Amino acid sequence: MITRKQLNNGFEYLEIVNRSAQASLALQGAHLFKYQSYADPAPLLWLSRASYFQKGKAIRGGVPICWPWFGKHPTDPGLPQHGFARTMPWELIAQNETDAQQTELVLRLQDSPDSLKLWSHNFELLLKISIGDRLILSLTTSNRGSKPFTVTSALHSYFMVSDISRVEVKGLDQALFIDTLSRSESIQRGSLVIDKEVDRIFQKVRYPLAIIDRNRTITINATGSSSAVVWNPWQTKSMTMADMNRDSYQTMLCVETTNALADGQKIAPGGKHSLTAALSTSPLSTG
Ligand code: BG6
Repeated sequence: MITRKQLNNGFEYLEIVNRSAQASLALQGAHLFKYQSYADPAPLLWLSRASYFQKGKAIRGGVPICWPWFGKHPTDPGLPQHGFARTMPWELIAQNETDAQQTELVLRLQDSPDSLKLWSHNFELLLKISIGDRLILSLTTSNRGSKPFTVTSALHSYFMVSDISRVEVKGLDQALFIDTLSRSESIQRGSLVIDKEVDRIFQKVRYPLAIIDRNRTITINATGSSSAVVWNPWQTKSMTMADMNRDSYQTMLCVETTNALADGQKIAPGGKHSLTAALSTSPLSTG
């Protein structure tokens, strides 16, 4: 079942319920902010209790769409961090309750006078979301203009973890990363353990990646991506962020499916590129 809802301030979202899972999706930003498979006792996605749900502000949690640039704009620091797709109104163009277990939604953002003020290209951006026993998000950029353009982007997933100090990220051993905090390059050795602020862009990533938590494994599979970002602001940075609580860093970890840095995608006129993440959980086997 898909139900349209609205907060008192007019903020619109959809609630999706089927036999496998439930989810909530804001039309602003095509921002999925809740998803839980019934096979898992805990939600997959983390959502800040202090998040804004407000016109023009990104939600802190779920899966923000960073597009057409990831992070700071490469040349103009006055432009919004992570682009504009996450704060613009999208259109729901298709909804399909495929069967009792699965719901598919397609949302669209196209160039508009507002987008052209920030990025002078004609485009169509589609987000296809499949809500079932796993969550699949597929972001397709089409170049509708007459000149090539390059996009960097992210499916900026915030995962819920039981305790950040007990979590490991697997699948990044030997990957080159750019440390956004120190602006230096290094090679990851073994699993990644988070014991301080971490903000790293991994290159030449081979999916799948896995977050090993106390009771479950979160698996991140991707196509159309050879980079990934791992981010946790830790306590000091969280305290500077109005939409994070003091200790919320302890139960979240962003492992983002990206097209970042050298993995930015140049798209010719008439061309398209899809960035897809398939996210699932499984109980941790103790054997
Ligand atoms: C991550 C970046 O993807 O997003 C971090 O690597 C950034 O540098 C974080 O701080 C959150 O960004 P924002 O704009 O949502 O506060």
